[in-house]
Amino acid sequence: MPGLTLGDTIPNLEVETTHGKFKLHDFIGQDWTIIFSHPGDFTPVCTTELGKMAAYTNKFQERGVKLLGLSCDDVQTHNDWIKDIEAYSRGSKVEFPIIADPDMEVIKELNMVDPDEKDLNGNQLPSRGLHVVGGDKKVKLSILYPATTGRNIDEVLRVVDSLQKTEKHKVATPENWKPGEPVMIAPTVSNEEAKELFPGGFETKEVPSSKDYLRYTAV
Ligand code: BEZ
Repeated sequence: MPGLTLGDTIPNLEVETTHGKFKLHDFIGQDWTIIFSHPGDFTPVCTTELGKMAAYTNKFQERGVKLLGLSCDDVQTHNDWIKDIEAYSRGSKVEFPIIADPDMEVIKELNMVDPDEKDLNGNQLPSRGLHVVGGDKKVKLSILYPATTGRNIDEVLRVVDSLQKTEKHKVATPENWKPGEPVMIAPTVSNEEAKELFPGGFETKEVPSSKDYLRYTAV
């Protein structure tokens, strides 16, 4: 199984979707894109995840991020399921395409398979994979959950904010960082460089080692 991972270019697969056939690179264009997989249509956890994605579509759009779902059934089944998703999410529309992958070929190419998950008939189940892809078509972040654990879509939004912040500035975001909170100056930046890069200043937290690596700033 190919092991698509951070920094890899997403393969330019031709995919069949609820919005027609296209190649992944054409869909991504120059934009940030989130590709996220689901084990199958008409399953409870997937319905809640897609419902939240539908409800959050505007939040992703505000960040310049396109959404592209994937589920291991065909287009007709997806279209039937979408009616349930929209009812579940109280009318939020599924405006993004969902890839049809009934033969589980695309999930193998995108490294979204859970080798340990099997359905009642012993068939392999896909995982809940998610890749955040940049306009350069490279994977910037991936998460991989088993089919039995639903993802936190607020966390997906939060990591997009972190990725976009750290792409612009030589900073990193601390544990559970949220937009508006201080960020940390990257360890590769010297104090001299930091004074130039962050004219508003930065604060160094004192620690027993006396090493000055916990440096906070606002950008
Ligand atoms: C679900 O979406 O609820 C689900 C799908 C496959 C396995 C377990 C749960």
